[in-house]
Amino acid sequence: MTERRHPPRARILGTGRCLPDTVVTNADLEARVDTSDEWIRTRTGIRERRIAPPSIDTCDLCEEAARQALEAADLRPDDLDLILVGTVTPALGFPATACLLQERLGTRGQMAFDLSAGCTGFLYALSVADSFIRSGNARYVLAVGAETLSRIVDWDDRSTCVLFGDGAGAAVFGPTQDPERGVLATRMAADGSYWPLLHMPGGGSRHPASAESLAQGLHYVKMQGNEVFKVAVRTLHQVAEEVLEAAGVSGDQVDWFVPHQANRRIIDAVRLRLKVPAERVYVNVHRYGNTSAASVPIALDEMVRGGKIRPGHRVLLDAFGAGFTFGAALIRW
Ligand code: COA
Repeated sequence: MTERRHPPRARILGTGRCLPDTVVTNADLEARVDTSDEWIRTRTGIRERRIAPPSIDTCDLCEEAARQALEAADLRPDDLDLILVGTVTPALGFPATACLLQERLGTRGQMAFDLSAGCTGFLYALSVADSFIRSGNARYVLAVGAETLSRIVDWDDRSTCVLFGDGAGAAVFGPTQDPERGVLATRMAADGSYWPLLHMPGGGSRHPASAESLAQGLHYVKMQGNEVFKVAVRTLHQVAEEVLEAAGVSGDQVDWFVPHQANRRIIDAVRLRLKVPAERVYVNVHRYGNTSAASVPIALDEMVRGGKIRPGHRVLLDAFGAGFTFGAALIRW
């Protein structure tokens, strides 16, 4: 008699992170643009952020985070069937940073590609990893969220330069037959009608690099912050509710809520709508600012290594970003 086996679920086997050493405080920014520590703290919760020196690019950050995640998972690079990098600040225009990372890790053959989903990049990568593992098309998947946003921010624009930071976070996913564990539900979505609210016009085929595009500052992040804020709160809440409903779990049954770290006020507003108690929300935006696709996996790695997330915990991930993209996942650790 053959044993009946459920299709596998994906679970996280190991995590890693890389933050550049250089700390830029709000006081440092006061010296550069017309802003104040008080304004930045009260509007965003951010106190400082990490900035990569010119010698470090997004692939360097990916490599360190990926090596840590592989070691934690007790796997070698050759064990990977798929390498994913969520980023809007790739090391090169092309090829994909995932391919550069593959070469750095000293492996070859497996599929490797980047996902451009703004701050939702890691959640999108998680969803792809989950699908590949469930379908049997991959056993082990490396998903990295990595950014050097400092390279595309206009350091003379106070409305954006105070918000962002550099960093990378990684997770290695593998299959589990345990019906109680792993990625229980995901919900990924996008609404392209919002693209003008947060974008970088230059460098693509619409506005290729030229002396004129540089003079116009088209290679910098453009954002309408207060409009973004409103849609962020609504969509983060919406996808998180959908995931909880799909998994049959209520907000107060979540052990940890790990939202994208863009702004403390956005996090608080979404948490209240979801009815997740304040002490179950992980926040590190004060230390790193908004690291875009890196923010959720950096938080996860801090929580795992800090002993906060333990086996059996229900962990709700929630992200929102340029596109607009949005996504949420519920994991039973
Ligand atoms: N320091 C001081 N004043 C600043 C400033 C800064 N760094 N940046 C903007 N201001 C000023 C504006 O010029 C404006 O002045 P005005 O009223 O004289 O025109 C005033 O502050 C209010 O600007 P506003 O944009 O309405 O502020 P806000 O309360 O919406 O806060 C953000 C601005 C950007 C902090 C907030 O909208 C936000 O966090 N939005 C979401 C952004 C985000 O998360 N993006 C990434 C998504 S993944």
